[in-house]
Amino acid sequence: MLMNGSVAIVTGGANGIGEAVARHLSKQEVKVAIVDLDQESIDRVVGEIKVAGGQAIGVKADVTSEADTARFLDETIAAFGQLNVVVACAGIIRDSTMLTLDKATGKVSKKMTIEKWNDVINIDLTGTFLTLRDAAERMVNGGWEGLLVPISSVNKVGQIGQLNYSSAKTAIELMPKIIIGEFLLRGIRNIRCVAIAPGYTETAMLKRMNQDVLNAILADVHLGRLISPDEIAGLIGYCMQNRALNATTIEITGGLCYPRGIAK
Ligand SMILES: NC(=O)c1ccc[n+]([C@@H]2O[C@H](COP(=O)([O-])OP(=O)(O)OC[C@H]3O[C@@H](n4cnc5c(N)ncnc54)[C@H](O)[C@@H]3O)[C@@H](O)[C@H]2O)c1
Repeated sequence: MLMNGSVAIVTGGANGIGEAVARHLSKQEVKVAIVDLDQESIDRVVGEIKVAGGQAIGVKADVTSEADTARFLDETIAAFGQLNVVVACAGIIRDSTMLTLDKATGKVSKKMTIEKWNDVINIDLTGTFLTLRDAAERMVNGGWEGLLVPISSVNKVGQIGQLNYSSAKTAIELMPKIIIGEFLLRGIRNIRCVAIAPGYTETAMLKRMNQDVLNAILADVHLGRLISPDEIAGLIGYCMQNRALNATTIEITGGLCYPRGIAK
């Protein structure tokens, strides 16, 4: 796929990994739409991309809403004439163990709330589904070369305290094979799907994690540090250009090995 002149949508594009992807692609002359709930950050990122000579629009939208999803896709196509790449970065964490026991009695004192479960499933999983489904619809109908990039996580293997998040991210890992298998059956040849599964990445999301748990996890990263959002952005740019990458999930973790097991 040619970078120059392609059109990309990045959900969650106003901060963190999505912001780095939007900035990176705009430097390669990809026209980008930044979709997010955070209007102030949308304005900041769109403004800075334009000052640097790139082309960008911002759309405030909630990825859990079907109406918003249709709107941000249609506004992007109206602005730039086509759609080629969709990076579904919008996501949250709401960590909690499923059960918490009272130390004195050994009885259950707290449970993961239905709100924590639903918020993560709705934004991370259902939001990704809606973004990919409705983007693919428009790519098929428009006949444009397309790439769908859902964002999984290294925690797809099952992280204690993230039953909600790991469940969503393992489901996302399956999406490329299911979607491309379906496209093969249906004769849809113009769209690829490659999921990215980042390891622990230096964004605001990690500031909401238990920092002791994070430091313990970093001891198992061969690279010895958090990975940077720019390193993920560069990989997504490469995925655009290499048509052989398809129907797979690529891990980018700095070598997270869990030599002492997954349980932390
Ligand atoms: N940071 C990490 O270590 C890490 C690791 C693996 C995977 N990921 C995944 O990468 C993606 C980006 O994470 P990040 O670290 O950049 O997070 P972040 O919190 O820095 O950015 C997430 C963005 O998503 C937006 N957002 C949240 N809910 C939304 C909604 N309903 N509609 C539209 N936008 C919404 C937020 O406003 C924010 O701008 C997420 O899917 C996350 O699960 C992150």
